[in-house]
Amino acid sequence: MSAITSNNRESVDFQTILSWDKKYVMGTYGRQPIVFVRGEGQYLWDSEGERYLDFLAGIAVCGVGHCNPRVTEAIQDQAATLCHVSNLFHNALQAPLAKKLTELSGMEKAFFQNSGAEANECAIKIARKWGKHAKGGECNEIITFYGSFHGRTLATVTATAQPKYQEPFAPLPAGFRYCHVGDMKELDGMISERTCAVMIEPIQGESGVMPIPADFLHAIRALCDESGILMICDEVQTGIGRTGRFLASQISGVTPDIVTLAKGVANGAPMGVCMAKGDAANTLAPGDHGSTFGGQPLACAAALATLEAIEADDLMSNAAEVGYHFQGALNGLRQSHPEMIADVRGMGLMVGLEFTSPIAKDVLAGLLKRRIIVNAIGDTVLRFLPPLIVTKENCDQVVQAVEDILSSMS
Ligand SMILES: Cc1ncc(COP(=O)(O)O)c(C=O)c1O
Repeated sequence: MSAITSNNRESVDFQTILSWDKKYVMGTYGRQPIVFVRGEGQYLWDSEGERYLDFLAGIAVCGVGHCNPRVTEAIQDQAATLCHVSNLFHNALQAPLAKKLTELSGMEKAFFQNSGAEANECAIKIARKWGKHAKGGECNEIITFYGSFHGRTLATVTATAQPKYQEPFAPLPAGFRYCHVGDMKELDGMISERTCAVMIEPIQGESGVMPIPADFLHAIRALCDESGILMICDEVQTGIGRTGRFLASQISGVTPDIVTLAKGVANGAPMGVCMAKGDAANTLAPGDHGSTFGGQPLACAAALATLEAIEADDLMSNAAEVGYHFQGALNGLRQSHPEMIADVRGMGLMVGLEFTSPIAKDVLAGLLKRRIIVNAIGDTVLRFLPPLIVTKENCDQVVQAVEDILSSMS
């Protein structure tokens, strides 16, 4: 292949892409040898013209479907109008988007960035500054939970209480302590005059789709209130309707002081959002924080159109209803293969399937052969994060494929 330009990307040569990737791209991912060139709704097409049913959606990103017409039109219009303007000026879309997102989330103010890690960095900075101001210079410690995942920057990888993500990058920033999910006694004992916040994902996605029990979230909220500290919910993966509600924390009726969003917020345009209420919403002052690209018109147009699509097509109800059907069908499978399936868990269209033995990667390979995209977490868990537009029939197709694979293995 001679030259790949921005407008001949459908005529890619598979082998060239793979060899250039090996040569020119840092090897941070163990990638499948597939080059995707096109998407529509819940389907992706590879460079060889094969169609795949996408039950991963870019890891919870393309919630309203690939190339959703509403989002595509908004991006095209905005690209032809104004892509970027410095945050030293207003643009016409950022404040309306902040209004919409804070209303949907029960928050008061938003700050825009480009990723989930950045949204969490912002939450950490707010908590630390708030702590110093409210309780004194030593109040800068944030408690997070074993099994969590909050991002790959140095602060967020330190918040991520999993040594495998941290070890190569020591020394890590100070100011983080880790607690076991569900252990209120331990959490209570960790809170001190140094603690400014407790940070948690309502479902721990990266450690195997582990929903946090509602009573534990309530107990954290009560303890934060009692101790006068902030509760931060990382809804980067769980937010934007994936669980059937706009935020997963809304299912348990808990309102944090700070909420972070990213992944699904702009259906694939890079965006992270940190939202806060109360004093936390007014903690950052001019000069404290910033982002060149955050909240630029192009990403905001995509996000506004994404939210419109979710509303217009009632996709949160679809996520709840189809997710319920999906989990029911997977539980049926569990009953017919109790020796192979240990657990089915999740909320809405964030679903984990745990096997009794380390076969997740084999099942994933079998699904890929059947042109179905999912994700394996470790050796025993398959994670499903389809677009919120999927149908019960799509779910049945996936369950049937898993059934066929398991039957061929047993
Ligand atoms: C809960 C959670 N927080 C933060 C992040 C980091 O987001 P990003 O990769 O956009 O920085 C992720 C990514 O998987 C996540 O799942």
